[in-house]
Amino acid sequence: MSNQQSYAQQLAAVFRTEFNQEPTLLVRGPGRINLLGEHTDYNGGLVLPASIDKEIIFALAPRPDRMCRMVAENVGQMFSGTLDEISPSPLGWPNYLLGVVDELQKAGYQPGGFDLVFGGNIPSGAGLSSSAALECGLAFGLNKLFDLGLSTLEMVKLGQRAENLFVGVNCGIMDQFASMFGREQSVIQLDCKSLHHEYFPFQSADYVLILCDTGVKHSLDDSAYNTRRQECETGVGILQQYKPEIRLLRDATTELVDAHRAEMPGKVYQRCRYVTEEIQRVRKACQYLLENDLAAFGKKMYETHHGLQHEYEVSCTELDFLVDQTRDDDAVLGARMMGGGFGGCTLNLVARDVTDAFVARMSQAYSKAFNIELKSYPVRITDGTSVLLI
Ligand code: GLA
Repeated sequence: MSNQQSYAQQLAAVFRTEFNQEPTLLVRGPGRINLLGEHTDYNGGLVLPASIDKEIIFALAPRPDRMCRMVAENVGQMFSGTLDEISPSPLGWPNYLLGVVDELQKAGYQPGGFDLVFGGNIPSGAGLSSSAALECGLAFGLNKLFDLGLSTLEMVKLGQRAENLFVGVNCGIMDQFASMFGREQSVIQLDCKSLHHEYFPFQSADYVLILCDTGVKHSLDDSAYNTRRQECETGVGILQQYKPEIRLLRDATTELVDAHRAEMPGKVYQRCRYVTEEIQRVRKACQYLLENDLAAFGKKMYETHHGLQHEYEVSCTELDFLVDQTRDDDAVLGARMMGGGFGGCTLNLVARDVTDAFVARMSQAYSKAFNIELKSYPVRITDGTSVLLI
């Protein structure tokens, strides 16, 4: 039996003990990685994420009343409340779920009461979007359980609204989209303006993806994210004076940004330049995937890191150190910081037959430099949110 199956059975057993009945539905909601296209989603640009084998599993059953009871297996806590009065919980984790219920109801859907046990293996604080996995998994589960008739895209948007409005995190659409629309051995090229998406093959017998977790999360994180968004908007405001059709940085080119450099505050110019270049990188890198040229793809990862470090300025010492460690390593085709920044993981494209040695080298160097034990996670690209059959 796979680890996933035995964990799902364990959750089902907790469900029976807590609620005295069988779960009627099991769902898996995966976390995500992003190969390229960082900080482009809220600029309407292109991203290249994938859903992975780090996931949250949900065991659910409907209730005859208006209660919802939710057990977080990993932390051993229960939340219980009524659908008629939804307000943020000081426990923290229920808010991702309550936000989904709240947004469903605000959109005119009528889910009934439910019991839920959930848990999983997404390392928290590593930037793998456990929050999107929670939101998407529950939206998907309630949609099935109560036959609400939401499309996949509606569930994605609802998950994002839950995060923006109920949890209060001003994220773009990438994480929820990846968690829902992921496909095995593929990356999703998502156009965050039109929401058109296309799959590109990402499979290799010789190379694997490994995350190296800095184990740090520097504060300033949220405020820096919001400042970056504002800086991009300032850039758009300046470019708009010349080209009114520009609504998002995605509508601008690097050449246009360069042409108006003198009118932009230095930081605004840097941010705009990075974003316009990064969108081009995603396009180019997808061609490399079609040509099966992972070496060229890996170079783009290093370029993205360079942009995030020096132009967008969302990296940190620990992330830069981990990326620098790989630069002269023949086993590594590409490496970069991943996600919002200021901590979390680097993503590494590493030769399959020497991954153990790679991990050992990285761990040793990291603990010597920072006295922190490096956690590494090999990741496999899987399908997005789906019903789990055991
Ligand atoms: C966080 C957000 C995403 C995206 C990334 C940066 O993960 O949740 O929407 O903006 O940062 O690419």
